[in-house]
Amino acid sequence: MIRSAAFASPKINCVGNARPGPVCVTGAGYVGLVTAVCLADSGIEVRLLDIDRDRLALLARGRAPIHEPMLDELLASVLERGLLRLCDDTADAVRGATVVMIAVGTPPLSDGRADLSQVRAALTSAVACAGSDTVMVIKSTVPPGTTVNLRRLCRHDGRSLPLAVCPEFLSEGSAVKDFRQPPQVVIGGDDAPACRRVAELFAHINAPVLITDPTSAELIKYGVNAFLALKISFINEIAHLCELVGADVETVADGLGADSRIGRAFLGAGLGFGGSCFPKDVRALDQAASYHGQTFELLRAAVEINAQQRSRFVAKVQRALRGNLHGRRIAVLGLAFKPGTDDVRQAASIDVIRHLEDLGADVVATDPVARSTAALELPATRMAADAYECVRGADAVVIVTEWPEYRALDWQRVAGLVRRRIVIDGRNCLDADAVVNAGFTYVSTGRPTRRPAATAQAPRQRIA
Ligand code: UDX
Repeated sequence: MIRSAAFASPKINCVGNARPGPVCVTGAGYVGLVTAVCLADSGIEVRLLDIDRDRLALLARGRAPIHEPMLDELLASVLERGLLRLCDDTADAVRGATVVMIAVGTPPLSDGRADLSQVRAALTSAVACAGSDTVMVIKSTVPPGTTVNLRRLCRHDGRSLPLAVCPEFLSEGSAVKDFRQPPQVVIGGDDAPACRRVAELFAHINAPVLITDPTSAELIKYGVNAFLALKISFINEIAHLCELVGADVETVADGLGADSRIGRAFLGAGLGFGGSCFPKDVRALDQAASYHGQTFELLRAAVEINAQQRSRFVAKVQRALRGNLHGRRIAVLGLAFKPGTDDVRQAASIDVIRHLEDLGADVVATDPVARSTAALELPATRMAADAYECVRGADAVVIVTEWPEYRALDWQRVAGLVRRRIVIDGRNCLDADAVVNAGFTYVSTGRPTRRPAATAQAPRQRIA
């Protein structure tokens, strides 16, 4: 179903079952790689262009440089089926392509603005090699107004190639699933046939297609991430109030989420948002608003509240250990910014561990997949191979990332390994009854602290 906010509803007509293409995707990063592999898997001939030959060599061996479910298998399959070709030469990758998608990075500049230098360079070099009827598409996350401003780079042989924007809505840890089952496909452009050609690439996906002007499409992308970040900071403020009035934030969140106008997703209280997108996109949107003279107070509040969650959490650990962390051993379970990924960019774990160590704590940390990426940020922090090794002799066990492995821990066994039976759950992800029944004091977010019954039969203390 196509909803068009800009044109009379265009009908996407795919002639027969012929898949469109070939398509060139520029940038084999997180978004470009997933987009290229998933489009190729749908039967489109795709060229994936990148300047990093080491990355291309790794991909050629069927290995993705990111930890994403299904991605390695899909990559190997489309390479074997000859549907994906890896390129390091722009002319080779762009030659004959009907659509060129720019999916290079837009990292934050020091003031929070998005750095568009890679987008401009990739677009300029692709246009120089493109055919006269090639459609250029920006897939990178770019501030509102960017696509309109970059049209000037699309002049080719005296005419302008159509330029559209097609934002991605991929979450780390579920990127392939999110590509195949997106909430919607958003395409922004002022050239109806060009937008239709882009929409045809997603004809195999069962999702509404919204075609808009380019600036609205750009703002939809930022608006989605900013609103989800607002939801998270909102529930964390509610959680703080719950702690003051003795309510239970999970119950409140269930009640809020039951209202279909609100929805339960992204009402998970705890250490707040991290990752490479929410912090970056919220700041970039705030900068874009400021550039146009608007002070977007709500965004600034969301960022401030999010930062507070980390310091509030460390204060909670300090209180649980009677205010003194010096020399205390703290076992930190979870380093990735969220489960399902090895990404620690803007992860709460980095700030929390640095703060605990600054207060004199002896931190031992673990994570199912993110230990090596976290060690680059925390060179002095000891890393344990697994949770049971991590908790040995701990004065407190701290949950920072809600990996399913940690909820499934044998808490009776953990009780026999720790020095003190205290758990502080930064993601409200544990089974509180199981933890308390094993003799632990259970501290979480936005809920009253739970203590073991005086008679709780915790196993005899064995401190190795
Ligand atoms: C996000 C958007 O979901 C995705 O659409 C966009 O394309 C990229 O940014 P991602 O950053 O991968 O995806 O992770 P997401 O699952 O959205 O979580 C973002 C952060 O919010 C994580 O740190 C997570 O721990 C936190 N979070 C999420 C909460 O604190 N509470 C919640 O209820 C949900």
